Amino acid sequence: MAETTNTIKHVDSALARQTLLDGSLTRPVAGVRPIRLLPWLQVVKIGGRAIMDRGHEAILPIVDELRRLLPEHRMLILTGAGIRARHLYSVGLDLGLPVGSLSPLAASEAGQNGHILASLLSPEGVSYVEHPTISTQLAIHLQAARAVVGSAFPPYHHHEFPGARIPPHRADTGAFLLADALGAAGLTIVEDVDGVYTTDPNGPDGKSAELLREASYTDIAKQEGTLPFDRALLEVMANARHIERVQVVNGLVPGRLTAALRGEHVGTIIHTGARPE
Ligand SMILES: Nc1ncnc2c1ncn2[C@@H]1O[C@H](COP(=O)(O)OP(=O)(O)OP(=O)(O)O)[C@@H](O)[C@H]1O
Ligand SMILES: [Mg+2]
Repeated sequence: MAETTNTIKHVDSALARQTLLDGSLTRPVAGVRPIRLLPWLQVVKIGGRAIMDRGHEAILPIVDELRRLLPEHRMLILTGAGIRARHLYSVGLDLGLPVGSLSPLAASEAGQNGHILASLLSPEGVSYVEHPTISTQLAIHLQAARAVVGSAFPPYHHHEFPGARIPPHRADTGAFLLADALGAAGLTIVEDVDGVYTTDPNGPDGKSAELLREASYTDIAKQEGTLPFDRALLEVMANARHIERVQVVNGLVPGRLTAALRGEHVGTIIHTGARPE
């Protein structure tokens, strides 16, 4: 009988003989900062309700601005779901559908908005790419084109957390998770308001709303009431590895997105929990 070798059983691994739950043991191995996969990438999240649902009046100027940004930046443009997802939630909740069933349906609405945006940018070589392509082939797509468009929803689908009835991880959370995982240069969230206010500027107390020019994710988490992004975004910001700040800008004002991508302070800058390199 051929002699067998058992050396493979003795591969020296610092994680082999211990529980992965013991932080003091895993930290020396797992505590280092991950590499930046696409350090030159700008991630831009376009609001579904704030921009896409408004139709050509809001979409065409943003498309024009994105088009003019292409020579300057390589971008992953991610779209939110907007009003059709709200309708879907109300029908689905009325029928008693679980959160994990509603999540992929809402994600498909975000994808539809992405397809619309990509069609308008297609003369520039921009196309819509699905989640698996973003996960594994984004780099090659961004060698072929200056930007690609995708759905901002995270692919939690039936894995969505069961605590809520409306998916808590929506487009803003998804955009942040991707930007941080890719080690992108930045994330800009495009809304229809100048940034984050102390209260909804379009709500009943709108007159008293004050714009926050700069805040940390912990300051905003203390603020009760509504926000112009998913509250779950603040939870993922706490554990960010690369994205140190996110800017929320008004996409209805021409030039704001361009200025934000050039590093200018034109909306609300939110500082995350990521440590400076
Ligand atoms: N504290 C707040 N500061 C600023 N805007 C707020 C605040 N609370 C609520 N809003 C409202 O949020 C609106 C934007 O809505 P929302 O974030 O749902 O749109 P969206 O980002 O386009 O949606 P989607 O997630 O579908 O992409 C603003 O027009 C504003 O009225
Ligand atoms: Mg929003």
